[in-house]
This record gives sequence, C-alpha cells and structure tokens, in this order.
Amino acid sequence: MQLLDGRKLSKKIELQITEDVKKLKESCGCTPGLAVVLVGQDPASAAYVGMKKRACDRAGFYSITHDMPESISQEAIEKTIVMLNNDTNVDGILIQLPLPEHIDTTKLLELVAPQKDVDGFHPFNVGRLVTNLDGFVPCTPLGVMELLKEYDIDVKGKNCVVVGASNIVGKPMASLLLNADATVEICHIFTDDLKKHTLNADIVLCGVGVVNLITEDMVKDDVVIVDIGVSRTKEGKLVGDVDFENVSKKSSYITPSPGGVGPMTIAMLLSNTLKAAKMNAQQKKSN
Ligand code: GUN
Repeated sequence: MQLLDGRKLSKKIELQITEDVKKLKESCGCTPGLAVVLVGQDPASAAYVGMKKRACDRAGFYSITHDMPESISQEAIEKTIVMLNNDTNVDGILIQLPLPEHIDTTKLLELVAPQKDVDGFHPFNVGRLVTNLDGFVPCTPLGVMELLKEYDIDVKGKNCVVVGASNIVGKPMASLLLNADATVEICHIFTDDLKKHTLNADIVLCGVGVVNLITEDMVKDDVVIVDIGVSRTKEGKLVGDVDFENVSKKSSYITPSPGGVGPMTIAMLLSNTLKAAKMNAQQKKSN
C-alpha cells in the first residue's frame, strides 16, 4: 500500500506557483488577486477561508476577504460581487459555500464573471468541463486528478466509482474522469446497494462526509482509494469517509484524510487564480 500524499504534492505545486508569481510580477507588474466572500459564522467555513488566505500570502498573491454577517441581504452580496467583477486587482472570486438559507446561491454563482470563476461553479465553466473544453475546474476534483497523475495512476479504461453527486465534488469529478477515458459510475444517497458498485471498482472516489461509509468488505484487492470526505468526530478529530485502518490493507494506493485531498484543493485554488491572473495580464497586453 502506498499513500497518496497530498500534503507533499501540494507543497511542491505551491513552490512552483510562488516562482511563477515572481516571474509574472517581473514581467508585467501583475500580482494575482483572490477575493473571498464569506457569509455568517460557520466555524468550518471560517477555517477553510483562513487556510485559503494563508496559502495566498505564502504564494505572494493579493487577497481580500469580504466577511459578511449571517443576516446580510441577497442584494448586498450581489452588489459586492458586481464590484469584484469590475475590480482590476481581483483575478479570482470565491464565494464560500454553503450560504445561509435565505440566500439564492445559484443566482450568486451565476453573477460571478466566468473569467474570474476560480471555483469553476458558474454554468459557463461547468459546460466547458462537461464538453472537455478549457475553463475553470472545481478545485477538489482537479486536485484529485493531479494527485493520481503524480503517482502515475492512469484512469484510462479503469472502472471508477464516484460516491457523491454534488456540484462541488461528485459531478465534476465524474466529468474529469470521463474526459480522461475512464469508465465512470456515480453513486449517491439513493443508490441501492452501494457495495455492489464499489466491489467492481478499480478506483473508488468518495466525498460525502459520512464516517466509515467505505469498509474493507466493499472493495476489491489492490483498489485505489481517494477519500474526499471530511467529517469531525464527537472527539473533534477530522476524518474521511473511508475506514482507513482496514481498507488501506486491501489498497494499492490510498489517500490519508486529512493530508490527502484537502491540501490539494487549496493548491488548485492557487493554480486557478494564477491561471486567471495570466489570462487577465494577456488581455491587458492586447488592449
Ligand atoms: N465549501 C466546501 N468546499 C468548497 C469549495 O471548494 N469552494 C467553495 N467556494 N466553497 C466550498
């Protein structure tokens, strides 16, 4: 069994990005900029945003967080997004999800300028991903593909079972795998007999946030396991969706959680923001 070490790979990617940022600053005086919109007091969201901000600082990005109260109106958030769309210091806009119940999330995600949509949640970028065209791809599944590539795990022709069908993880994960010529099944909360599907998988990618959902009896020998889930146990410990201790004994490769996919998500956010900054720099040059 070999660990898919996202912490190690994310550090390598961050160093490369930091170098690229220096070069970009020298060549055009541009500094990649990320704006984060954070609404409410959810401790997990605040922690994620803190990690994203520190990663931006390490890489030499400009970053700004618009911290808004839980009670903020839809219109006030919309105004902020329009302002960020027009702010030339901002290359990427990220609206931390989930948002409070009274907010129309879809409307906000559609308001973000597609060329600043570093989360890849705008339907324009979703459509480009599904049709295998270049665009912004959601950070978590993009990070998974980078991790598989780093360990020379070719998904072409493999049976890949994605557990979870969210817009953030499951659906874009399935699109990326399909674009890479894998055979893809998507399982979700209404799937009858999950084990029947996972037992057939060469690669299981699970991101639903249910502790110990994937157990050793559900996977075949030498399976590749990508654990995308994050939950907190009663004791406050962060864990994934996979019974790591027992499933790892049957796996050829497995991500630890934490330390697998999580750090890759942040590295991909930096990568997407740098991509946006380079596109904007090019645009400015040609104007
Ligand atoms: N909430 C959980 N994951 C994510 C993510 O990747 N991006 C955003 N914006 N919100 C999230």
